[in-house]
Amino acid sequence: MISGKIITRAGLAVALGLAFAAGAGGVAVKGPLAVKSAVAGEKKKKHPGKRLYRRMTCIACHGRDGKRAIQDYPNLAGQNKKYLIKQTRDIISGKRKGGKNAQGKDRAAPMVGSLVTPEGKVRISDEQIEQIADYLAGLEPAKPKPAADLKPEDVEAGKKLYKKKRCKTCHGKAGKKPLKGYPYIAGQKADYIFNQMVDVRDKMRKNGKIKTMYSFVKKLKDDEIRQIAAYLSTIDRTKK
Ligand code: HEC
Ligand code: HEC
Repeated sequence: MISGKIITRAGLAVALGLAFAAGAGGVAVKGPLAVKSAVAGEKKKKHPGKRLYRRMTCIACHGRDGKRAIQDYPNLAGQNKKYLIKQTRDIISGKRKGGKNAQGKDRAAPMVGSLVTPEGKVRISDEQIEQIADYLAGLEPAKPKPAADLKPEDVEAGKKLYKKKRCKTCHGKAGKKPLKGYPYIAGQKADYIFNQMVDVRDKMRKNGKIKTMYSFVKKLKDDEIRQIAAYLSTIDRTKK
């Protein structure tokens, strides 16, 4: 996670984030002074959401600038602001749990664990969520990083299914032009897209406006979902 490329300052933030996410307690985050002095030499004109993104440990899981999420977690850079706010709130409140992850826990559990105390106290304010979302929405999306074993036939089949299943109605051409407040899905990590579509099909994801999508994915088989995810993961949103 801490690559040689990351400068010391960011490295510290990541280290703090990881310690915190691992459950080392509120100490790391409660000590904003430590972080403050570490970032003291920083340029003034920085988006306040950027600092919060590090301080609130989002960076530990969603990666630098929201572009290098770990495991099958989502990239957040360039996502719709309203959508980001809504999902962050729904995950914290438990409205969005999703299906089960490899550890048999709710998919969103790791995030809840780092933002909500075992007693149920939320460690982040609405204003902080808003600022982080504003920062993330303003970033250029990550360059697509399709899997090494990606098969061109799958991408082709996924493209056809995207059309046939009328995903465009709500997510726009190639997942790049969603309806207002709906998520961009182009260029997202394939594993994440796959998990979400399975959760939507199986009605494990129930928050927000997701019910409008149910009838469109109801009959999809896992293999078809994998193909759609492969297709979407290859699309470069940084190109018009
Ligand atoms: C310990 C890891 C972890 C941390 C820390 C974390 N998240 Fe997450 N986040 C996740 C996981 C896992 C998911 C995906 C849940 C799922 O698959 O349904 C997620 C999903 C999200 C989503 C939904 C994205 C989408 O496309 O629907 C948003 C928004 C989000 N996180 C924002 C944040 C913000 C903001 C922070 C910091 C305040 C943060 N997260 C901190 C693990 C984390
Ligand atoms: C009728 C509208 C509609 C259609 C059609 C639709 N979706 Fe969705 N989709 C949504 C909405 C709304 C959400 C976000 C729900 C929320 O607010 O929580 C969503 C979320 C998603 C997500 C999760 C995004 C994230 O960041 O977590 C994926 C992936 C997705 N859709 C893929 C598809 C695919 C592929 C199709 C075609 C098979 C499709 N959708 C068809 C409305 C639709």
